[in-house]
Amino acid sequence: MPNTLVVQAHQATRLITLHRPHALNALTTELLGELADELQRCADDPDVRAVVITGSRKAFAAGADLNEMAERDLVGMLDDPRQGYWQRITQFPKPLIAAVNGYALGGGCELAMHADILIAGEDAQFGQPEINLGIMPGAGGTQRLLRAVGKSLAMQMVLAGESISARRALDAGLVSEITQPELTVERALQIAQRIAAKAPLAVRLAKEALLKAQDLDLASGLRFERHAFTLLAGTADRDEGIRAFQEKRQADFKGC
Ligand code: CAA
Repeated sequence: MPNTLVVQAHQATRLITLHRPHALNALTTELLGELADELQRCADDPDVRAVVITGSRKAFAAGADLNEMAERDLVGMLDDPRQGYWQRITQFPKPLIAAVNGYALGGGCELAMHADILIAGEDAQFGQPEINLGIMPGAGGTQRLLRAVGKSLAMQMVLAGESISARRALDAGLVSEITQPELTVERALQIAQRIAAKAPLAVRLAKEALLKAQDLDLASGLRFERHAFTLLAGTADRDEGIRAFQEKRQADFKGC
């Protein structure tokens, strides 16, 4: 049983809630390790089709745990197990939706940006305040933030340490929807369940193809897309999808 997470099953989706309320869900090595393990369980379980990750109403996560960081010197940082945990979290192959209320700062903002879809409560605040501590983002913040919101706003957030509101995050393209805070998790679960009803192989390859758009040049990305599209043409779910359309019924996808 994890110490720092609460995990709930909702049909074919899982809701993972970060649970360190006394420290605004600050990310300890233990929490990141438990999260990486839980995501691995979700990846391995064919009955899990999508995952929602959330925090509390006050904080999604207020960044790396600064008390833990204070104990780590340069040598400690060089073989820091958190790097491996972050890597495992980023490699989660199924759809991951972040439902963000309150503070998403530093590593908390980076964790939210690892998600494929971000839904924010009206009171959410996104920021990379590491510069205030004499450091800089180290879990993807500089790379993912710039891709999400563009150069000028990313520079302002990272260099000046300024946070942005949910509304600004929506305008900048960091989040896809804003809800009332009490509805954020419900909305994220609704999207997760909608995704869970689709053909799993198509979802997985579509996610992979979309992520390639951030890393590859257009020609290589298009090649990957064509290859993935062709692979799906050989699946039973593709036949079922088209047959269900013709027979005017809901498709029953099996994941093969
Ligand atoms: N690490 C450890 N504890 C934290 C924490 C953190 N990142 N953020 C908040 N807490 C703790 C506080 O110490 C406090 O504990 P006590 O009640 O025992 O004093 C409790 O959570 C509540 O916090 P506050 O009283 O400060 O709440 P507030 O509403 O006044 O302020 C806040 C909220 C603006 C988020 C403020 O807590 C804050 O600035 N936190 C630090 C944010 C930050 O700098 N994050 C970046 C960390 S570095 C990083 O993330 C790098 C990386 O991953 C690679």
